[in-house]
Amino acid sequence: MALDIEHDKTPHGERAPSCTMVIFGAGGDLTKRLLMPALYNLARTELLPENFALVGVDRVEMTDTAFQAHVEQAIRDFASDKHYSQTLDEAHLKRLLSCMTYMSLDFSAPASYQLLAAQLKTLKTSHHVNDNVLFYLAVGARFFGGIVDQLGRAGLVAETNQQWRRVVVEKPFGHDLASAQALNTQLRESVAESQIYRMDHFLGKETVQNIMLMRFANGIFEPLWNRDHIDHVQITVAETVTVEKRAAFYETTGAMRDMVPNHVFQLLALTAMESPASFDADAVRNEKTKVLNSVHKVDPVHDTVRGQYAAGQRDGAPAAGYKQEPGVAADSSTETYVAMKLGIDNWRWAGVPFYLRTGKALSKRQSEIAIQFKLPPISLFRNTATERHTPNCLVIKLQPDEGAMITFGAKIPGPKIAIGQVHMDFHYKDYFQNAPSTGYETLIYDCMIGDATLFQRSDSVMAGWQIVKPIQDYWASGANAALEEYAAGSDGPKAADELLEKSGRAWRDLD
Ligand code: BG6
Repeated sequence: MALDIEHDKTPHGERAPSCTMVIFGAGGDLTKRLLMPALYNLARTELLPENFALVGVDRVEMTDTAFQAHVEQAIRDFASDKHYSQTLDEAHLKRLLSCMTYMSLDFSAPASYQLLAAQLKTLKTSHHVNDNVLFYLAVGARFFGGIVDQLGRAGLVAETNQQWRRVVVEKPFGHDLASAQALNTQLRESVAESQIYRMDHFLGKETVQNIMLMRFANGIFEPLWNRDHIDHVQITVAETVTVEKRAAFYETTGAMRDMVPNHVFQLLALTAMESPASFDADAVRNEKTKVLNSVHKVDPVHDTVRGQYAAGQRDGAPAAGYKQEPGVAADSSTETYVAMKLGIDNWRWAGVPFYLRTGKALSKRQSEIAIQFKLPPISLFRNTATERHTPNCLVIKLQPDEGAMITFGAKIPGPKIAIGQVHMDFHYKDYFQNAPSTGYETLIYDCMIGDATLFQRSDSVMAGWQIVKPIQDYWASGANAALEEYAAGSDGPKAADELLEKSGRAWRDLD
């Protein structure tokens, strides 16, 4: 088992130290759509190392020049996308492309890793890089263990005080608790925990990072952030996209594995954790893990809902149901929607329900965290039209309309006492210039400078799987674990509404 070695850290905002990045899966979609545009943005903002080399690794045969042309096209497409439109800085692009080489390798053959070792040596002379290497596994999860084994056997992940070797693994990390533990044990045979960067791209989103800033850089929220003042919390990650062309992956994954123990629980942890002792990676990750470990055992029968989209409407046109999507089994029981109620057993949150929901083919793309406060303890306005107050709500809007909003009651002008609900609404775009970003820039840069704050530590991954385990077990047992259909383009299954209605609560509208 590899030992943790502490390396000097580059301060945030400075160029990352010299290194080589090896991308396994360089011909894949993730590399094209996200990693390459992110690397370009890092080059443009001068955060990429002065001396940098990149080795693209995949099975298909390609020359260095063909690979560079493929990457160039990906970056040009990205830049012309209406969401990011920017003028490409040709000099930065050219320089970035000149750092790139390509190797066609069979991931499972030991000889491939000897070739890779030789290439890393060559790059030291040709690209003046030092010995730091970032191995990015942009490949299917089934390859993670095997690649890291081979890297270990070839001596490619051995660190010294002078050089670091890091491995980035994309999600999903396992498909349940047992497989995540097994994968972790396998990785730890070759690399130390400090060398593993477990990616959850939600943590690269500015608005997700802002949850911590909002809570701990302001004085007004934290005193209210507890069971005395909060009635319940709603976490929503609603998507309009369907399974699209991902049936092969999604059929065996489903909404729970795809979104909940990773993205949704990261939002839960950031919302519910205690203030860390510092902003250091381990201090933050300790608190996140602690709160996930405090989630009490979910009752899968009464407190979870699973749904699957059926035929419906999208943008006014008929939309297919999940079972009719290409590659999906006609009798598929894969869920495309999950909702659940959780409780956290600690002094801050005891008795405060957390409602989580995520799904595909819904009416609106909307990710947000809604903190619903308790009503005032007494009503001064009894026997008036204001008898029934509406509780205050703080909504942290993650995407697509990024910002935050507080709702509160205000007097409607006039001789009668009447309360109207008003919104104080903050939109990121009104205050800050939105730099073109894929969300991966910060994460790749953080790997290079050795800041693991935004990456999942193994204990936090296991805590996530531990929470969903009873639900997965129950669903797998087939014991009346109903899969409710909802129309594509709707707000989700009725049972999800009932989950809140039982206690007189309701989801915020997807609007
Ligand atoms: C991915 C899931 O991790 O996150 C997808 O596999 C999901 O199914 C996606 O659509 C959502 O991420 P984003 O950044 O598009 O909100």
